[in-house]
Amino acid sequence: MTGQPIPVIIDCDTGVDDALALLLAVRHPGLDLRAVTCVAGNTDVDGVVRNTLTVLEQAGAPDIPVARGAARPLIEQPRSAKHVHGEDGMGDLGLPAPTRTPCDLDAVSLLRREILASPRPVTLVPTAPLTNIALLLRTHPEVTAHIERIVWMGGAVAAGNATPVAEFNVWHDPEAAAVLLTAGVPITMYGLDVFMRVKVPGRVVRRLRESDEPGARLAGELLAHRPSAPDPEGPDGDDPAGGLGDAGAVCAVADPGGITTRRLPVEVSLGPGPTRGQTIVDLRARHGESEIHDGTRPQALVDVALEVDVERYVDLYVAAVTGEDAGSVRAAAPA
Ligand code: BDR
Ligand code: CA
Repeated sequence: MTGQPIPVIIDCDTGVDDALALLLAVRHPGLDLRAVTCVAGNTDVDGVVRNTLTVLEQAGAPDIPVARGAARPLIEQPRSAKHVHGEDGMGDLGLPAPTRTPCDLDAVSLLRREILASPRPVTLVPTAPLTNIALLLRTHPEVTAHIERIVWMGGAVAAGNATPVAEFNVWHDPEAAAVLLTAGVPITMYGLDVFMRVKVPGRVVRRLRESDEPGARLAGELLAHRPSAPDPEGPDGDDPAGGLGDAGAVCAVADPGGITTRRLPVEVSLGPGPTRGQTIVDLRARHGESEIHDGTRPQALVDVALEVDVERYVDLYVAAVTGEDAGSVRAAAPA
C-alpha cells in the first residue's frame, strides 16, 4: 500500500453482505471509513441502524458516526428482503444488541457534513437502494465537488435478481437510482454481473467461523449465510462457498485493478411494467436506427465492471479481515 488511506463513506441497508462490506472497510489499512449511513432496503431502517452498529461494535471499530436515513423509497413502498437476510436482516445470528447509538444527525446531514469536512475528496460506496444518495444530491448539490468517485453496488448488465432484469437496489427505488446516474461525478457500477461471482471457498469460510477473533468469526458466520450450492465432488466437500456480495464493491475501492471496466451509457427504466428498475447498459459499438432517425439524447456514462479477478478479491478480503496473509489462511484450511 502506498499513500494515505482513501476516505470512504458507506451508505448501506445492513444486510448480511453489507455487514461483510463494513467489516472490510473497517479493517483494510488502505481505507479510512469516516461515516456510515443507513437506508431501508433489506430490512426496515431501524433494523439497518441496529445491524450496522452491531457490526461496527463486533469488529472493534473506532467510534465511526452512523446515521438513520430514509425509511422508504421516493415513490415505491418499502419491500424488504428478509427471505434472503433473515428476520433481523442480518442472518439471525443471535448477536447481542449494540451498546453504541446512532448520531443525532439524519443520514443526509451526516453525509453532507462528512463529505465537506474530509481533507481529501471522499469515495462514496452505496450498497443499498439509493434513496439517501438521491436526497443528498438534490438537497446539497455542492457536495459533488468533494466526491472523488461513487463506487456503487447496483444494477446489472445481464440478468437481474429482484425481477428477470432488475437488480434489487435499483428495483427498490428506481427514481433514486436515476438521480444517482446524473450526479455529475465519476461512477463505477459494481453490478450483479461481477457481484455474483466473488465467492470465498467453503474451507476458508469454515476456518473463519472457527476463529477466536470476533470480527473474523462474524465474517465466517455471515459468509456461511450466503451459500452457493455445495459441490460434494469439489475440493471443499460439503462446505459451500460464501459470496462476498456488497463487500466486492469495497474491494473495488481498495484495489480497482481487480475489476475490468468499460465506460458505457447507462439508463434506468422508470416506466411501469416488466422492465421497471432495469439498468439498460448500451454495449453497442455504434449508433443504431433509433439515434439515426430520432437523434441522440444525453445519457450518463458509467464505468461498468464487466470482469472481476475473483481470487484477488477473495485474498484481499480474507487478509484484511483476519490480518493474516491470505495464503496462510488457505493453507491452514485443509479440504
Ligand atoms: C443487493 O441486494 C441486497 O439484498 C444486497 O445487500 C445487495 O446490496 C444485491 O442485489
Ligand atoms: Ca446491500
